[in-house]
Amino acid sequence: MKYVVTGAAGNISSILVRRLLLEGHQVHVIGRNAGRMQELTRLGAKAITGSLEDRTFVVSAFRGADAAYCMYPTDLQSDSLTEYAARIAQNYAAAIQENKIRYVVNLSSIGAHLATNAGPVCGMNRAETILNALPDVNIVHLRPGFFHTNLFGSIGLIKASGIMGNCFALPMGRFPVAHRADIAAVAADHLLKLQFKGHQVQYVVSEETGTDEIATQLGEAISMPHLKWVKLTGEQMLFALLNAGFSQRVAEEHVELFSAIDSELISEQYWQSRPIQFGTVTMRDFAKEFAMVYQSN
Ligand SMILES: NC(=O)c1ccc[n+]([C@@H]2O[C@H](COP(=O)([O-])OP(=O)(O)OC[C@H]3O[C@@H](n4cnc5c(N)ncnc54)[C@H](OP(=O)(O)O)[C@@H]3O)[C@@H](O)[C@H]2O)c1
Repeated sequence: MKYVVTGAAGNISSILVRRLLLEGHQVHVIGRNAGRMQELTRLGAKAITGSLEDRTFVVSAFRGADAAYCMYPTDLQSDSLTEYAARIAQNYAAAIQENKIRYVVNLSSIGAHLATNAGPVCGMNRAETILNALPDVNIVHLRPGFFHTNLFGSIGLIKASGIMGNCFALPMGRFPVAHRADIAAVAADHLLKLQFKGHQVQYVVSEETGTDEIATQLGEAISMPHLKWVKLTGEQMLFALLNAGFSQRVAEEHVELFSAIDSELISEQYWQSRPIQFGTVTMRDFAKEFAMVYQSN
């Protein structure tokens, strides 16, 4: 089987590619930087270098694939992440159609049922809609919860102020989070079996936790057992994101997303169709990864 995997050196794609190669398949990986794909090419992947923003490039990079893994990178300086994702989805749609690809695993997000009020996640709603308009293509839209890796973004705040937080806070059991290894495992299973038909939506969640528990578990791993999750205001969060180099619109989109997490708007449909099976990576497992990054940072 020949697969094309976008976002090759990324969190999820890099794990997915290794699994597909391990099973003896041909894997073409797409990224802008050949150096970052070197580890995968050493393992047998073929690197195709170029930007997903370039439709002609994407159409040619998808040539000959039996199935595709589509993801949407984040461009923090873009005019809008929603529009950015929609443009990339249009490029994927052209590439899938012109190359007659019948199977697509699409990395979407929890909350992708929302066309408005969910910040960048509205881009996933647009992307799902664009791909669903393709005739005769079997698509599974993976809708993972909040990534563990986002929590690396708290390291600066912990080191500077001894707290972690965001402009949302959720009680124990109400915060669905997803580890990249669990997401990659679900994507790999679909790509290896190719048994999905029509348009499917699948939520991918490792654990339903809470923000106080996250602070306690990560705090214990970095010898700060009293670490607290502090709920910031939307203004404070906007200020922090602008300082971190986000464009004004992308920062505003993130604050909108965080308030949709806080109100649980983002997870309303998830609670009606929870996954029967959860992933295997817990926040305690991730805390070890977190501690290593924290110490080397
Ligand atoms: N964060 C969350 O909580 C969350 C939750 C649900 C869903 N999601 C979805 O998951 C996505 C991120 O997935 P991930 O963490 O696996 O990815 P990631 O680690 O952010 O990786 C992005 C990859 O895409 C490549 N890339 C970036 N811009 C590109 C471009 N214009 N053309 C070609 N390649 C490009 C990058 O490599 P180069 O720089 O070398 O090109 C990088 O390897 C988000 O964008 C969102 O759609 C996120």
